[in-house]
Amino acid sequence: MAEATKKAFVTGHPIGHSRSPKIHGHWLAEHGIDGSYQAIDVAPQDFAEFLATLQVNGYRGGNVTIPHKEAAFALVVRRDEAAEEIGAVNTLWFEDGILWGGNTDGHGFAANLDDHAPGWACNGPAVVLGAGGASRAVIHALKQRGVADIRIVNRTLARAQELRDRFGAGVTAHGTASTGELLADAGLLVNTTALGMQGDETLAANPALLPDHAIVNDIVYVPLETPLLAAARARKLKTVDGLGMLLNQAVPGFERWFGVRPRVTAELRALIVADL
Ligand code: ATR
Repeated sequence: MAEATKKAFVTGHPIGHSRSPKIHGHWLAEHGIDGSYQAIDVAPQDFAEFLATLQVNGYRGGNVTIPHKEAAFALVVRRDEAAEEIGAVNTLWFEDGILWGGNTDGHGFAANLDDHAPGWACNGPAVVLGAGGASRAVIHALKQRGVADIRIVNRTLARAQELRDRFGAGVTAHGTASTGELLADAGLLVNTTALGMQGDETLAANPALLPDHAIVNDIVYVPLETPLLAAARARKLKTVDGLGMLLNQAVPGFERWFGVRPRVTAELRALIVADL
């Protein structure tokens, strides 16, 4: 008897905006895999039941997005180290019948910089704008890559301080009034706030204050060139947009469910850019 179709999913609420089906669909076709990857809208009150019935419904695993990342963290049986540190789960899979939850956002962030700014982790202090869920994934990755001086800047200082306490040595917390002095000797600036998204022209920070060797990364990818990246480019700094983080965070999940490590190619990027 032929092996059953390998099934995976992305769930959120709403989920219609998700680009994940296109990414995984592209890889399934590229590798000729008999598999499927569907978007499934699940309301928060139904999420626990959805997880409990994954295996009987034939799923190998899937992705979890807003608003289910924290609920998934609480409901899985085992968690990988990244999920533990970040406090949220974005990828589910089964191992020996046990439901595991992992977090690949930090991997996506670091792999995007590896692709477009090799050597980035040795470029000096990192300034991270924002202290929400995305910021936690970025700080986890920065620590893992050995960045020794990580400066969190947030409108609400208390949230930055919570993250400093969570991540410990090498991480400091600051209010936005200090941004200028923190940028003066920074090697990497990462925006994890929604500032600059979808036509918001507000600059999350002024790249003119950075040294010449600094790299600027925005994890926002709609628009692809945010006001922050445009200002950094005008200042002739190295810039990296956020789309590669989205593409790279999908890689470990695909490998777990479908058994092939897929590549983030220019072709895949163009496919998703056409849809932004
Ligand atoms: P995510 O999970 O995407 O990181 P989040 O947890 O809602 O989302 O966090 C959003 C981040 O963007 C926070 O750091 C938030 O700052 P506050 O903690 O002060 O709310 C930041 N942010 C959102 N809108 C902002 C704005 N208009 N100006 C400055 N920071 C903003």
